[in-house]
Formats: sequence, C-alpha cells, structure tokens
Amino acid sequence: MRQSSRAVVVALAASANAATLADVCKVSNVQSAMPSNGTLLGIDLLPSTVTASAVYNATSGMGSTTAYNYCNVTFSYTHTGKGDEVVVKYAFLPPSEFKNRFYVAGGGGYSLSSDATGGLGYGAASGATDAGYDAFNYSYDEVVLYGNGSINWDATYMFGYQALGEMTQVGKAITRGFYSMGTDDKLYTYYEGCSDGGREGMSQVQRWGDEYDGVVVGAPAFRYAHQQVNHVFPVTVEKTLDYYPPPCELAKIVNATIAACDPLDGRTDGVVSRTDLCKLNFDLTSIIGESYYCAAETSSSLGFGFNKRAEGSTSSTTPEQNGTVTAEGVAVAKAVWEGLHNSKGERAYLSWQIASELGDADTTYNNETDAWELSIPSTGGEFVTKFVQMVDLDNLSDLNNVTYDTLVEWINIAFVKYLDSLQTTLPDLTTFQSSGGKMIHYHGESDSSVPAASSVHYWQSVRSIMYGDLSEKKSLKALEDWYQLYLIPGAGHCGANDLQPGPYPLYNMEIMIDWVENDVKPSRLNTTVSSGDNEGETQMLCQWPTRPLWKSKTKFDCVNHEKSIESWTYDFPAFKLPVY
Ligand SMILES: *[C@@H]1O[C@H](CO)[C@@H](O)[C@H](O)[C@H]1NC(C)=O
Ligand SMILES: *[C@@H]1O[C@H](CO)[C@@H](O)[C@H](O)[C@H]1NC(C)=O
Ligand SMILES: *[C@@H]1O[C@H](CO)[C@@H](O)[C@H](O)[C@H]1NC(C)=O
Ligand SMILES: *[C@@H]1O[C@H](CO)[C@@H](O)[C@H](O)[C@H]1NC(C)=O
Ligand SMILES: *[C@@H]1O[C@H](CO)[C@@H](O)[C@H](O)[C@H]1NC(C)=O
Ligand SMILES: *[C@@H]1O[C@H](CO)[C@@H](O)[C@H](O)[C@H]1NC(C)=O
Ligand SMILES: *[C@@H]1O[C@H](CO)[C@@H](O)[C@H](O)[C@H]1NC(C)=O
Ligand SMILES: *[C@@H]1O[C@H](CO)[C@@H](O)[C@H](O)[C@H]1NC(C)=O
Ligand SMILES: *[C@@H]1O[C@H](CO)[C@@H](O)[C@H](O)[C@H]1NC(C)=O
Ligand SMILES: *[C@@H]1O[C@H](CO)[C@@H](O)[C@H](O)[C@H]1NC(C)=O
Ligand SMILES: *[C@@H]1O[C@H](CO)[C@@H](O)[C@H](O)[C@H]1NC(C)=O
Repeated sequence: MRQSSRAVVVALAASANAATLADVCKVSNVQSAMPSNGTLLGIDLLPSTVTASAVYNATSGMGSTTAYNYCNVTFSYTHTGKGDEVVVKYAFLPPSEFKNRFYVAGGGGYSLSSDATGGLGYGAASGATDAGYDAFNYSYDEVVLYGNGSINWDATYMFGYQALGEMTQVGKAITRGFYSMGTDDKLYTYYEGCSDGGREGMSQVQRWGDEYDGVVVGAPAFRYAHQQVNHVFPVTVEKTLDYYPPPCELAKIVNATIAACDPLDGRTDGVVSRTDLCKLNFDLTSIIGESYYCAAETSSSLGFGFNKRAEGSTSSTTPEQNGTVTAEGVAVAKAVWEGLHNSKGERAYLSWQIASELGDADTTYNNETDAWELSIPSTGGEFVTKFVQMVDLDNLSDLNNVTYDTLVEWINIAFVKYLDSLQTTLPDLTTFQSSGGKMIHYHGESDSSVPAASSVHYWQSVRSIMYGDLSEKKSLKALEDWYQLYLIPGAGHCGANDLQPGPYPLYNMEIMIDWVENDVKPSRLNTTVSSGDNEGETQMLCQWPTRPLWKSKTKFDCVNHEKSIESWTYDFPAFKLPVY
C-alpha cells in the first residue's frame, strides 16, 4: 500500500515539476481547481472573479530578502444563499519549488494577515482573506459597530475564527487542483502567528482542528474579554490608589526588580528566567528610596499600534525626572502585578509576571499643571467603549466612577457577549489531537501586553478537560505528544525584550515541519540569545511545567518545582462561569 502510493506521488511530482509557473498560473487552471458548489458546505466559489498573474522577483512578507516567483491568485466566494462576498488571495510557488505544504499566517491587533506570501520560504502555498468586511483595508475594530448599539456579528464571527478556517479550506482545495495533486497525496497544513495571530491560531485549533497538521502560536491574545479589559486595570489601580507615578519611577521599579531577581535562577545574565521565584521571594518594598533619573525627551509616539486610528504619531515632551522610588509607586506596581480582584477580594484575572514592563500604567505629562496624569491605553479603552458599551468611540474619555468591580462587570458583559466568537478558549482540542495535529505554544515570560500566565492557564484547562481522569504523569505525557508549551525567559510581547537580553525562538516553523513530516518530536525549544553578553548562545528551553535552573554559567537543568507551578495556577471566583 505505502510503497505504491509513494510511487504515485513521485510520478505526479515529476510531471508537475516539469510545468513552469507560466504554465500553471492561468485563470483557467484556477477555475478548474475550484470545488463545485456543495463540496465545501456553505461556500459557493465564484469562478468569474478569478484573477491569476505571475509575480517575479518579489520579496516575501516574512522580512526575508530572498526573491520569489509566484502566482498571485485572487477570487471571491459567497456564503450559500447569503449574497455576501468574501475576497481571498493566494500565492503559489512554481511547481518545482512546491513542497506539498499550505501555510497560514496570523495577523495582529484587530487585523488578520493581509499578506498571502508568508509560506513561500517554506515551499508552501499560502493565502489571506478580506473576511467579507474588506479586511485588507479596514481593521475589525473599525467595522465592529454598524452604529451605536448595533454589533456587526458577521464581521465578529469572521474575525473570530470563520474567515481563516474558510480561507484554509478553500485554499487547500485550490492548491490540490492547482498542482494536480493526487487525492492520496498529503497536503501538510501549517499555521503560525503571535499576539492576535496567536489567538487566531487557537481559534483554528479549536474550531477547524482537522484542517491543520502543525500550529505554532505565540502569546495568544485570547480569553478576549479578560485580556482586553485587563489593559485598563493598571490605570484603574492608579486611580484607586490616587497615585500617578512618573514613568521613570515605574521604569526604575522594573529595572530594580530585574536586577534583584536575575540571580534567583542560578545565573546572573540580566534575565529573570524564573519570574516565579521572583514572585515568591522578592520583596518589592525593598526598592523604596532608590533613586531614579530620566533625561528630558521629546518623543514621537506611534501609539499602541493596536487600533489603526490610534496609529497617528503624536509628539510629546517629557521633562527630566529625578527622584526616589516612593511607597506609593511600589504599591501601584505591586497591585498591578498581583492582578484584578473584586471588592470582595475574589480574583477576577491573572496579571503580567513580576519583572515585566508596566506600559499600560504609563502616565502622561501635563505641561500646564506640571503633573503626571492618567493615560488610558486605547487597547483597553476602545474595547470597553466599542465592545462593551457599544458606542462608536475610540477610547474611554475618563475613569469617573470606575472601580475594580466595574472592570469585573465589563469583563463579565464581554465574556457572555463574545463567548462563542472572540473569547477563543474552548479547551477540548480532541478533533485537532485525534486527527494528528501538533502544536507548539510559546510565550515571553516578561510579556507586558498578554500575560504569560494566560497561556499557562489555557494549557492547564486543556490538560484538565482532556486528561482530567489521568494521573499527573500520564496526562503530561499524553499532552506533550501533541501540545507543548514553552515560556521564553525574559522575552516581551512577541519579541525579545530590551530590558532583558534573553533567548528567543528563531526556528519554530522548521521544528514544527520536522515534527509533522518526519516525526521528530521536540522535547526542548531551540532558541538563540540575540543581544547582551551571551549573544549567539543557543538555549534549549524547558518545556512547561518544568522550569530552568542554571547549574553553571553555561548549563541549566529543567526542574520540577511545585511551589513555582502553584504560583502560576489561578482560579477566578469573581465569575460564576468557568474561565478556561
Ligand atoms: C456557485 O454558486 C454561485 C452562486 O451562489 C454561482 O455564482 C457560481 O457560479 C457557482 N459556482 C460554480 C463553480 O458553479
Ligand atoms: C529576476 O531577477 C534576476 C536576477 O536579478 C534577473 O536575471 C531576472 O531577469 C529577473 N526576472 C524578472 C522577470 O524580472
Ligand atoms: C495580485 O492580483 C490582484 C488582483 O489582480 C492585484 O490587485 C494585486 O495588486 C496583485 N498583487 C501583486 C503583488 O501583484
Ligand atoms: C482594498 O484593498 C485592496 C487590496 O489591498 C485594494 O486592491 C483595494 O483597492 C482597496 N479598496 C479600497 C476601497 O481601498
Ligand atoms: C532601565 O534599564 C534600561 C536598560 O537596561 C535603561 O535604558 C533605562 O534607562 C533604565 N531606566 C531607569 C529608570 O533606570
Ligand atoms: C537629582 O537630584 C539630586 C537632588 O536634588 C541631585 O543631587 C542630583 O544631582 C540630580 N541628578 C541629576 C542627574 O540631575
Ligand atoms: C505644552 O505642550 C504643548 C504641546 O507640546 C505646547 O504647544 C505648549 O506650548 C506647552 N505649554 C507650556 C506651558 O509649556
Ligand atoms: C485615551 O483617552 C484618555 C483620556 O482622554 C487619554 O488620556 C489617552 O491618552 C487616550 N489614549 C490614546 C492611546 O489615545
Ligand atoms: C454614539 O454614541 C456616542 C457616545 O454616546 C456619541 O458621542 C456619538 O455621537 C454617537 N454616535 C451617533 C452616530 O449617534
Ligand atoms: C458617579 O457616581 C456618583 C455617585 O454615585 C453619581 O452622582 C455621578 O453621577 C456618577 N458620575 C458618572 C459620570 O457616572
Ligand atoms: C537549533 O536550530 C538550528 C537551526 O535549525 C540548528 O542549526 C542547531 O543545531 C539547533 N541546536 C540544537 C542544540 O538543536
């Protein structure tokens, strides 16, 4: 059986390889590759909309300088009986370079990826979708409301999970036809994304699990209601404690925390590889009285880049900041790192790990009153106005009457409203697992936008929902066969961290391809230190729940430490619904 199907693959590959890009990059070839209506349930492809044109010497969207030739294909489909139109675009390599792979890239913020060329470097066809709301031109937050009080649910479900799932289903079918693949030939399907791209990846694993073979997700911005409202938690702390720290004071608290906790992992290298030990052992109040200094500066801010409209750069002047860390400043940092609780003291959400930056707490300088004032980050502010209050405003104007209980209420409203669209934490991944899917999930331990503990909590949810009846050891073994979580020491949000010169993974997709296609299951994650004294060092990171402990300047062990794991483990009694 195996032998003969392999012989067929070789024969087909040989004939396909003889074709040039110009031979296959034709409207008629794409049209004949289109599954007839009824094949993909609910999706009617529109052959008359097909465009196909060869693109030569293009650079791929992955920031690489390699030039590619590919076939640029666009067309539309409609949902059966609905009369809508969704535009998709795909990039197909010349047949000789195609390696039977389909690749899907995630976007970020409120955007899906608009670039179809991300797979070219992997020998993969890949695609992008306008999601039916012109997502190539508009980000989802710009279209979520038709008007005050009126949610665009089509766009919400499409952004939530449906558009990418359909783009992949359609794209795989077209890819098979485009390259004349045999029905028995495997088309390996991959996903890669970070931040909202991580959430999008999780949405695919949760909803379209049998479409994907290998999924790499970083710092998923999921548990959407909690994640988005949490962006206004730090400013609510400041308002509640009535202290608005100069940014330099918070920066000093972060720096001093990093310096104090760096050695706790066994190596002094500028990196807090064990934020759990920092949380368990470091007394933040010891920083009180340390002096800080930041020079005056005129800075151009690009905003948070989360909301398209907030991207316009603004220039602001901050004065010289020279002072000592106050008890109030430490109280703000401590409360932020402890996370949101309601007025009964019940936990509502987890927080960024201690030693992460405190960007959402940054104040702005008022040059007329010479005071530091509250600055509501539009990431959280806009979520509250548009998604919770449903008014078409880009940001909250103030925090009048807003308490911790208000935040919990906002989360609860969004939790219920978007439970089956944006929340993206379904913990039963049986479809993905049983169809052979593999997932690498990574998260910068000092991420200051999406808390690393958010990923740990989801991993724990999947483990207990899918393997709750197994012993601890057996459930770990069962899970790591297809789902592995890695925390990246010192790293920030989807990238290395200026404040901690630690490792970052550079070869995730290569590792995933090797796992899927050659059955090489990783047990550690291959990462590289990109700056500082140890620049160039390879670190094979520990797989969660083991934690690194340096034994010498060059070697660390992966240890089990129950107290550490406990410090990463939360429940959320502020909500009656289970929070996965
Ligand atoms: C599929 O149905 C649509 C109408 O929903 C029609 O326009 C299109 O031509 C059909 N596609 C094919 C391949 O027949
Ligand atoms: C692509 O670039 C190569 C090398 O620079 C050049 O020889 C070739 O003519 C280019 N092809 C096209 C179609 O522009
Ligand atoms: C791909 O084709 C579409 C539709 O014709 C066109 O708008 C777009 O500019 C093309 N992209 C590239 C990179 O040529
Ligand atoms: C939307 O984006 C597409 C692809 O980038 C472009 O071809 C089209 O002209 C844009 N439409 C508008 C209305 O901006
Ligand atoms: C914190 O450390 C960074 C880099 O290590 C440095 O650039 C910055 O000035 C420090 N900030 C303060 C307030 O000490
Ligand atoms: C900061 O203020 C202190 C006390 O006023 C002063 O001694 C010190 O020189 C100042 N530092 C800088 C860099 O201006
Ligand atoms: C405050 O800053 C604004 C904008 O940068 C500037 O136009 C204004 O002159 C400043 N006012 C004072 C009192 O410095
Ligand atoms: C959001 O609004 C608040 C209050 O008006 C303001 O302080 C803050 O700068 C705004 N944030 C952004 C990113 O526009
Ligand atoms: C939507 O509501 C906001 C806040 O109440 C208001 O400022 C805005 O004018 C309203 N927009 C429309 C079109 O009514
Ligand atoms: C804030 O609360 C006070 C007392 O509960 C109420 O009188 C006031 O109208 C509220 N303000 C806003 C802006 O909701
Ligand atoms: C890490 O990955 C790189 C690139 O694939 C490879 O060259 C290197 O050998 C790997 N290191 C280890 C220790 O596996």
